Amino acid sequence: MNNDLHPDLARILVPEDTIQAHVKVLAHQISLDYADVERLYLVGVLRGAFIFLADLVRHLTIPHSVDFMSVSSYGKTAVSGEVRIVLDLREPIVNQHVIIVEDIVDSGKTLSYLYHTLKGRGPASLRTCSLVRKHRDHIDVPLHYLGFNIPDVWVVGYGLDYADRHRTLPYIAELKEEVYKK
Ligand code: PRP
Repeated sequence: MNNDLHPDLARILVPEDTIQAHVKVLAHQISLDYADVERLYLVGVLRGAFIFLADLVRHLTIPHSVDFMSVSSYGKTAVSGEVRIVLDLREPIVNQHVIIVEDIVDSGKTLSYLYHTLKGRGPASLRTCSLVRKHRDHIDVPLHYLGFNIPDVWVVGYGLDYADRHRTLPYIAELKEEVYKK
């Protein structure tokens, strides 16, 4: 299989069938946890989460709606004041049961910003879900649903990109260092 890899890629970290199996498990768990809720409100974080969210919702067995947010970050390593909303939700989320759906948690800055922002809008409950999380000692936001922990390398595929490339690969792969360091 690795023989067919794009030359930018070092190796496949999470194969397609493993991703799909975990997406089903996550959807099953969410469907159980929210079985008594009138409607679950899922917030996908653009752009990366759209593929994961599309697969996740098709396995949910409970009533739900989907909306999207997009944020812009000024420098991935800055500590504060660097995230702003560029696309917001269409509706208020007061008294709604909300899950924020991310493709990846890296520094945790994006998820933390969204979590605290949406928490302030008075939802009935607020949880977070990410397909992958890079190995970090600590993030200052709860992560309620997680597919995989991955090593601290640059990954692409299944929504994740490098300069808008490789986002639609069905698997998650490690990008060669020489690609992003050149
Ligand atoms: C990526 C990813 C997450 C965020 C995670 O988005 O989709 O939203 O980074 O990083 P963090 O935990 O360090 O905040 P990106 O800004 O690359 O935009 P994109 O999804 O549109 O590609």
